[in-house]
Amino acid sequence: MTSILSNNYFVHFSNSSYLKFEAFLEDFKPSTCFILVDENTHKYCLDRFINNLSKTYNFEIIEIKSGEAFKNLETCNLLWKKLTYLGADRKSLLVNLGGGVITDMGGFTASTFKRGISFINIPTTLLSMVDASVGGKTGVDLGVLKNQIGLFSNPKMVLIDTDYLKTLLQRELLSGLAEIIKYGLTYDIKLWNTIKTYKIVTINNITPLIYRSIVIKNEVITQDPKENGLRKILNFGHTLGHAVESYFLESEDKESLTHGEAIAVGMIMELYLSHKQFNFPINLVEEVKIKIQSLFGKVVINTSEFGEIIDLLIHDKKNTNGKVNFVLLSSFEHCELNCKVENALLIEAFNYYMA
Ligand SMILES: NC(=O)c1ccc[n+]([C@@H]2O[C@H](COP(=O)([O-])OP(=O)(O)OC[C@H]3O[C@@H](n4cnc5c(N)ncnc54)[C@H](O)[C@@H]3O)[C@@H](O)[C@H]2O)c1
Repeated sequence: MTSILSNNYFVHFSNSSYLKFEAFLEDFKPSTCFILVDENTHKYCLDRFINNLSKTYNFEIIEIKSGEAFKNLETCNLLWKKLTYLGADRKSLLVNLGGGVITDMGGFTASTFKRGISFINIPTTLLSMVDASVGGKTGVDLGVLKNQIGLFSNPKMVLIDTDYLKTLLQRELLSGLAEIIKYGLTYDIKLWNTIKTYKIVTINNITPLIYRSIVIKNEVITQDPKENGLRKILNFGHTLGHAVESYFLESEDKESLTHGEAIAVGMIMELYLSHKQFNFPINLVEEVKIKIQSLFGKVVINTSEFGEIIDLLIHDKKNTNGKVNFVLLSSFEHCELNCKVENALLIEAFNYYMA
């Protein structure tokens, strides 16, 4: 697999990625190299990373607690203090070894520490490989509002090694699958046609789709780095998906959903809206719904909850002038941007999902 050039940095793959990393260290000569992990990536990924290097380096390991609940400014505060305490300076390097929480928050922490130190991302979940690896978005949540605080900032490089996925929970593997499905429906139907044939999702059947997914995301974000047009297609399924995700995160009596589980719900509902507003064929909406629900299961959303979830849409970062903007499909691979949808139709979409 050849390296992918993104905005001024490369995504490197497999064994060669470690060689590129070591060449970077040789050239950049960081004053200190920190590796940010959570308890899971400390346990499952750190040794794999270190053992793939040809010699021993003096790394400082910083561990934080895993999970979206810790992706906030309080954790950044701890990290900035820790970096200060450990003597980090502007020539330090932060290596973010983990899922999207680690790469988003580590990227943000590095980009704001002493007005910005260098960082490298090593995504270890399927979601962070296929989605968070390119695009330059870094940030943290503000309460339940996802990624409310952040900035665009690019890593020096990204290393992709699918061996890290071997220890990932099945639920987390599925979380990344939702984004691959999104690329399939909006950009390259061949991906969806492949996934359609899967009865279950395994590392073996998903690995061949990772490279193509990163290529697609990279094509989109390099053409539209600041989300003025094309990049909006990446929000398909995410407008309702994020609201569902926030609702489940906030709710005390519900188990939180993974990002992908919420996006899977959002994609089904937004395809239904696509049918209503752009005549997207209903038989294809049904086909996607059946397949997604067979892979992800059906999330139970009670009728009494529809209104509260719809209320959360007002916080969507893609809103303009107080209006919610949806990305809908007129057909596979053809997106309609900045679509407005009446609340009554949103309720219909919830009912369609639950039917
Ligand atoms: N920057 C972007 O463009 C972008 C894109 C998509 C998502 N995101 C963000 O990414 C986050 C979600 O990412 P995620 O799903 O990777 O979540 P995550 O980082 O919370 O990882 C999920 C879980 O898997 C564990 N884990 C990670 N790697 C592991 C491994 N190899 N083996 C075993 N366990 C492992 C983690 O400790 C965690 O418990 C969200 O905060 C989302 O906003 C960012």
